[in-house]
Amino acid sequence: MAVVRASHVYKVFGRHEKEVVRRLKAGEDRKDLAELGTAAVIDASFEVDEGEIFVVMGLSGSGKSTLIRMINGLWDASDGSMEIVGNDISKMSGSQLRQVRRDHISMVFQHFALLPHRTVRENAAYGLELQDVATKERLERADSWLDTVGLGGWGDKYPGQLSGGMQQRVGLARALAAETDVLLMDEAFSALDPLIRREMQVQLVELQSKLNKTIVFITHDLNEAMYLGDRIAVMRDGRIAQIGDSEDILTRPADEYVANFVQDVDRTRVLTASSIMRDTQAVVAHTAGPRYAMRLFERERVTGLFVVDRTRHLMGTVSDRAVVRAAREGVDTLTDITETEGILTVKPDTPISELFAPSSTARVPLAVVDDDNRLLGIVPRVALLDSMGQLSPETGEMPAVSLLPSTVEPQDEVTDESRASEAGAPDAKPGIAASVNGEEDAPEGPPAGEAGAPTSDDQKGA
Ligand SMILES: Nc1ncnc2c1ncn2[C@@H]1O[C@H](COP(=O)(O)OP(=O)(O)OP(=O)(O)O)[C@@H](O)[C@H]1O
Ligand SMILES: [Mg+2]
Repeated sequence: MAVVRASHVYKVFGRHEKEVVRRLKAGEDRKDLAELGTAAVIDASFEVDEGEIFVVMGLSGSGKSTLIRMINGLWDASDGSMEIVGNDISKMSGSQLRQVRRDHISMVFQHFALLPHRTVRENAAYGLELQDVATKERLERADSWLDTVGLGGWGDKYPGQLSGGMQQRVGLARALAAETDVLLMDEAFSALDPLIRREMQVQLVELQSKLNKTIVFITHDLNEAMYLGDRIAVMRDGRIAQIGDSEDILTRPADEYVANFVQDVDRTRVLTASSIMRDTQAVVAHTAGPRYAMRLFERERVTGLFVVDRTRHLMGTVSDRAVVRAAREGVDTLTDITETEGILTVKPDTPISELFAPSSTARVPLAVVDDDNRLLGIVPRVALLDSMGQLSPETGEMPAVSLLPSTVEPQDEVTDESRASEAGAPDAKPGIAASVNGEEDAPEGPPAGEAGAPTSDDQKGA
């Protein structure tokens, strides 16, 4: 269901609003009408669905703040209609509008707008005070939201005693405490240091997975937009140039403006496992016999196979050595020789940036599985390198970077970078489910020469 619906919305500042709108509709350029008024938003149409993070992105002056201010009725649209939960804002009386704002909309600003002489708790409770919630209840609710944003225990401090990132968390707690369904965030993280900003982005995504708010998030930072947005609207000179998900915008930009805009984005944060995963034929049913498995090894030229059940649930891997031994010993199915350790599974929506560390330690290509642990595809290391544009497009050959042979022990493959990121954030790999025994960064692999599972994809550049 659309919670916010804009149709053909215009906003012109200046005394000749209607005339400017009329002439824009007739095809005149906003620049030529500048004498009559500033066309801040021109013919904007979009819907924001329940539970969606809708990002509005664009350069300074492109009309983002004006657009968001029409959503909460701070500005009236010059033309067109803006609906919130099915009600046209321009048709509301003052008291209806206040009620809609109170019940449905919270806002988080760039400059936290905290009240300096009130405690953190009182600041977080401020929206509830406006909703006439009784003191005791509102302070308790404020405390619980402060906990949620990681500020448990800070309620008695004053804003001035908190860092910028913490103050912004108070702003977020205040907006969340009002428990409205719509959250409007205008450059909410833009004043923060890059690392804290990143942390806030991660936290917002985590919170959103629990809270399922409808969020309109404004930013001029493309990486932030791509990381947060379920869909993104790119604005240019008052108009929406494109609306799409991050992959649409990256891979199918609507025009040159959008293409230039997205040129510098860190693709590894935007593209996900599903966009680089590869199909694999190195899959065998656990009920199959070792002789059949040996045929597959030969056909697929791999040293290991993924073992699945009849409905493709991933059970583990088998190595060629184990299969040869089993065939010699007359074992009839692969069930008993299936290894469950050492496979790492990731979800299709895991960002590529989160695949590097596990991939560097894994003995087998990462397995991409759905929520039921069904094997969807694999991410060989070569696919990761490819995604970074390190493979020469003409030859498909690896330039300076060369892969280690599959027999090298995994710890040798851990780069300094991945080591650092693991040391810094041992659990900060949302979406990566360490498989079966959870030993994703246990360096003890099999001895050299035993590296069992499917690795030759890595070598042959599948
Ligand atoms: N109250 C106002 N009166 C007149 N013109 C305004 C007003 N508010 C905004 N504008 C103009 O409307 C245009 C869009 O401004 P807006 O603040 O929406 O841009 P923005 O995309 O939010 O930019 P920024 O990234 O700098 O915040 C600009 O040309 C701005 O000068
Ligand atoms: Mg703005």
